[in-house]
Amino acid sequence: MRHPPPSVVPLDRILPDEPLLMMGAGPVPIPAKVAHANSIIINHLGDTMNRVVEQVKAMTRYVFQTNNAQILGVAGPASAAMEMAVCNLVEPGTKVLAVINGYFSRRLAEMARRCGGDVVILEIEDGCTAMPEQVMAALHREAPTVMTIVQGETSNTVWNRYLPEISLAAHEMDCLVVVDAVCTLSTMRFDMDEWGVDAVITGGQKGLSSIPGVSLLGFSESAWKRIERRNAPMAHWCLDARLADQFWNKNSYHYTAPVSGILALHEALRLICTETLPARFHRHELSSKALQGGLQAMGLELLVQPVARLNSVVGIQIPDGVSGDEVRRHMSQVYKVEIAGAFGLNILRIGQMGEQCRAHAIFRALHAFGSSMVANGGRVDLPAGVAELERILADGQVT
Ligand SMILES: Cc1ncc(COP(=O)(O)O)c(C=O)c1O
Repeated sequence: MRHPPPSVVPLDRILPDEPLLMMGAGPVPIPAKVAHANSIIINHLGDTMNRVVEQVKAMTRYVFQTNNAQILGVAGPASAAMEMAVCNLVEPGTKVLAVINGYFSRRLAEMARRCGGDVVILEIEDGCTAMPEQVMAALHREAPTVMTIVQGETSNTVWNRYLPEISLAAHEMDCLVVVDAVCTLSTMRFDMDEWGVDAVITGGQKGLSSIPGVSLLGFSESAWKRIERRNAPMAHWCLDARLADQFWNKNSYHYTAPVSGILALHEALRLICTETLPARFHRHELSSKALQGGLQAMGLELLVQPVARLNSVVGIQIPDGVSGDEVRRHMSQVYKVEIAGAFGLNILRIGQMGEQCRAHAIFRALHAFGSSMVANGGRVDLPAGVAELERILADGQVT
């Protein structure tokens, strides 16, 4: 043998002794039932898989709030679902209006550009929600065939709160609306049919509290008609929706499906259906508002003003003289809690998606955060923060 085996250590010598509490921008903690499902292998074709897939589609329709959308999955990150939505709807020369609030909505625009789309960018001011009038003006000016937009920009914690109005306006102009709901789905309202959304994209590792790497998307009837009529060749084989339809709707082979990941998604979706969406939205909103209140009572400032503030991921300004990286390191080493930095912004981000929105998780995260701030020279009132968190959670009201 010319190449000897490498010298490696077992995983338990790499992983921390105790699992870290994942309170960043995803992946998030997963329920035990999801973890168990993720450890099972079954045949990727056949009756058992067919039953699982049918249930996954039915539950996804509930979570997307749609009756007829074509539901597909993809073995890949949420970015693969973004790419699948974009590359099937955008052909060379297709006019695309990309509403950009930050990093991930810019990624959608870049994907459309790489598909040969004629991409027009509508850049929204930092920290602001896209306003219906400004998007409508761009829609009238450009008459695009496709519009891309994000419901929540995880990167800078901005929420497009007028997505329903914006989506309906585009829909009325026969423009197909592609929505990235990766960090928001099942954490807040999303109504695919009622809002006239044509393609919705999500990942597993955020609101759904499943694993990263297996993602879901849905196409409206109009979007699916466009895909069926498409003449331009598809450069991507794995992401070709008409081929994926073979597996997701015709019990047949496209590629070997990520069976364990689909089983994990099944359980994550089933837990959402059991909880019901209204109860889940309330749990998320209350938990996030309590965390935000606690952070502010400590004396910290949040990045985004309430009108545009995302609940699913909270962005916190780092006080002068404090190193965000050191705070994160301290939280991780001393308290075994992980949170996220940001894409070039001087903020820290705490996630509020799925299993992160549990009282035990936010108390631990807020305490670890405040204490690590103090240890790194931040002047925060930790007891006041914890007291406010307790007060809002006990009150149970969202305002
Ligand atoms: C809003 C949004 N869109 C897309 C993505 C991309 O997801 P992934 O990293 O799974 O490709 C993310 C990931 O953080 C996200 O937050």
